[in-house]
This record gives sequence, structure tokens and C-alpha cells, in this order.
Amino acid sequence: MTTPLRVGLIGLGTVGQGVIRVLRGNADEIARRAGRPIVVTHVAARDLGRKRDCKLDGITVVSDAQFVARDADVDVVVEVIGGISPARELILQAIARGKSIVTANKALLAEDGNRIFAAARERGVMVAFEAAVAGGIPIIKAIREGLAGNRIEELAGVINGTCNYILTQMTERGQDFATALAEAQRLGYAEADPRFDVEGVDASHKLTILAAIAFGMPLAFDQVAIEGITGVQAQDIQAARSLGYRIKHLGIAKRTGKGVELRTQTTLIPDDRLLAKVDGVLNSIVLKGNAVGRIGFYGRGAGGDPTASAVVADLVDVARLSGADRRHFVPALAFQPDSVRELPVLPIGEIESAQYLRLRVADTPGVLKAITSILAESDISIEAILQKEPRGGEDATIAIITSVVPEQRFNAALDKIRRLPFVREGLSRFRVEHFD
Ligand code: NDP
Ligand code: HSE
Repeated sequence: MTTPLRVGLIGLGTVGQGVIRVLRGNADEIARRAGRPIVVTHVAARDLGRKRDCKLDGITVVSDAQFVARDADVDVVVEVIGGISPARELILQAIARGKSIVTANKALLAEDGNRIFAAARERGVMVAFEAAVAGGIPIIKAIREGLAGNRIEELAGVINGTCNYILTQMTERGQDFATALAEAQRLGYAEADPRFDVEGVDASHKLTILAAIAFGMPLAFDQVAIEGITGVQAQDIQAARSLGYRIKHLGIAKRTGKGVELRTQTTLIPDDRLLAKVDGVLNSIVLKGNAVGRIGFYGRGAGGDPTASAVVADLVDVARLSGADRRHFVPALAFQPDSVRELPVLPIGEIESAQYLRLRVADTPGVLKAITSILAESDISIEAILQKEPRGGEDATIAIITSVVPEQRFNAALDKIRRLPFVREGLSRFRVEHFD
């Protein structure tokens, strides 16, 4: 067989160790696909004394990541340290030296990808990032290549494994938020700073990338309306269940007549829908193309080996294309760079959606009437309502699901409801998606 593709791996955490395990464990199959062996020759990590769950024999292990990015004996750099800096500088250095890049770093791509892709184009190298969205699900390749004949109208997905794991543990096991998050961290699902997961930032990074490759628009992270799962309480999970819904964290990108919607949000979904059944660390993306119709993808969204599966697929692409003229590369963001078009992104106040509202109210006569009257006066229909019987002087709980309503109209009604004297502090409000 021909000479191996020599990989310099920067980062030896959850994903980096997975990459070494998968490349070694499936070496023969991978070489048969790539046409040459793919071998990790260099690794950089911070703490060289730390025990790793992979074999490192025959690999040069250093703490200086720049050494790996620059070494002439490295053909391709895999960046799996995460974060913006020094990941960005390392990638740009490696590109400048003519090395292709494989990265799982959605934060960097969503926030500064335009610069990195431009540098790679100029130097004639690839930047591949299948692992950046939905872990092991090959969604980037599917949208960029398999669905290239479609105008993609919308996509929605469970795209953060940590959020989904936490919500599943809370729903199925009654676990509290903090315990479930600690477990997700122990399992290697969470970002180095888990606020990125639970506050919706990680999902928004992924949504930014998905929207760019689905709609042919520039990366527009600063235009995503970001919401996480920190507002979800055990009572919401119970109320949603009683109403026939599940609570999930979704990323949604949708074309409308007025512009593109880009939002991440805690969402109630009817419990018989596909996305409602995606549990634990699993991710799922459902999208609609005008030729293919609805199509769904499902699989592990985080964790070492599933994410390494995506990294290694990118390495196989790099191996197959090394030496090829860059005009033969698939465009990194699916559309030819000079055909990427700005699209207006709708402010969140202008979207339309059904809404869930849970209120704690004093147990006095006329409460329900006052709330429903405000909704009726605002021309908001109630689709479902649940009142939990108060026990021994407790407050009553009311949960409501509305029909689809303009966001601003619902917000105005909510302001009035909040001001009612018997409504207690701390209501919950999430959007509802039916996926009919
Ligand atoms: P980890 O925190 O587990 O690992 C990060 C690794 O990078 C560690 O080995 C660390 O070294 C090393 N590192 C950090 N900074 C430097 C530096 N300056 N020089 C050399 N090495 C450095 O992260 P993950 O593996 O979980 O994630 C890596 C990337 O993959 C992130 O971008 C993340 O968003 C993405 N990702 C993660 C997934 C997952 O399931 N975990 C799934 C999909 C994408 P040391 O070990 O010595 O501290
Ligand atoms: N922290 C991310 C998640 C890792 O939980 O989905 C996978 O991108």
C-alpha cells in the first residue's frame, strides 16, 4: 500500500482518545477505504502525566501544540482541544503550512469559521468538521452532498447531547438537574464549560453551521435567538407529561415568507412525535427538502467513539483527496463561496409558535377566569389546560397550551397575566412545536 496519511492530533481528551482508539481498532477497514493507512504520528496534550484510555506507543507525545501544527512530518491536523484560542491560531498556522484540518470545534467554526474557510481556500487545503454537529451522525455530509438536489425548507433537531441527557434523566428517573449534569460531565458529553450546553450556546453553534450549509447563507451565530434548559423545573416535566408532551431542547432553522428563523429553545413536543422519543445522549435531526420531503437522522450526539467516527470519516476524505486540485473539493459550507447569500433573519419577536405557560396562583375564586379572559381578549386560543388541585393551603398550579400565536402578542398577554395580584413569581413559559 502507499505511504500513510500522517495525523497530528491536538487534544487527547474524550474525542482525541476516541480518535486513536477508532483509527487503531479499525485500521484495516479504514486503510481499505482511504486507499492508504491513516496513522497518528504526533499528539499534543497539556498534561503528559495524565492516564489515557488509548494506546500511545509509537506516537510522539508533546505538550507544545504548535510543534504538532507546524511539524513537516504531519500531513493533516486534527484539532480537538475546543474553544476559540489557541485553537484558531493553531489551525491557521497549520493551514499556512499547507496542512488540511479536521476539527470538532463548532464554537470556533460558528464564531470565526468564515476566516478559517477563506484561509483554507486560499492555501488549497481542506477544513472538515463532520464531528462539530451531532457527534456521530453524518449530518454535514448528508446535507452537503446527499441532499444537494434539494431546496431545504426547514430543519429541527435535538442537537445537544448534554441537554437531552439531563432532560431524559429528569423525566425518566426524577433526577434533579445538578445530578444529571454532573453525570453528563462524567460521561464526557459536556463542554469544558457546561454552561455552553445548558444555556443553549453549544446548540446555537451547531445550528449556525447547519443553517449555513442548508440555506447557503453565511455563518450567523450572532443572529441565533438562544435559549437553554436552565428554566426547566420538575413541575414542568410533570405538567408536560400530563398534557401528553415531552420537553426537549431543540435547534430550529426555518425559511418563512418574511425571513429565516434561527432559534434554540426548550420545547414541548407531542409525545408521539419522533423527536419526543429521542432520549439520553442521542441526537436527531429532521429536515424537509422540497424534493426528498421529510427525512430524519438519529444517533449518538456526543461521547468519544461516536464523535471519533465522524472525525475519522473526515480523515478518510482528506486521504482520498490529498494531492487533488482544490476545485475538486466539496465546498466546505456546501455552496460555492461566491454563491453564499445573506438572508434576513427574523427577530424572535416576529416568529409564530404555540406556547406553554405554567403558573402558580393563589387558590381563590375567579383566578382561571381572569387568566383565560386575558388570553381571549388577546385573541389567543387555549388548546389544553391543566389545573392541579391545591393541598392544604398550597398555591394552585395551572398549565396552559395555546394555539399558534405571534410571539409579541403572547408576550403582551403574558405581561398582563404576570401583573394579576394572585399570580405568584416564577412562572414557566416555553414554546410548543407540533411537527404536524
Ligand atoms: P476534553 O476537555 O475532553 O479534551 C480536551 C483536550 O485538549 C485535552 O486532552 C487537553 O489536554 C487538550 N488541550 C487543551 N488545551 C490544550 C493546549 N493548549 N495544548 C495542548 N492540548 C490542549 O474535550 P473533548 O474531547 O470533549 O472536546 C474536544 C472538542 O470536541 C471540543 O471542541 C468539543 O466541543 C468537541 N466535541 C466534543 C464532543 C464530546 O462528546 N465530548 C462531541 C463533539 C464535539 P489535557 O488532557 O492534558 O488536559
Ligand atoms: N457538549 C456537546 C453535547 C458535545 O453535549 O452535545 C457534542 O457536540
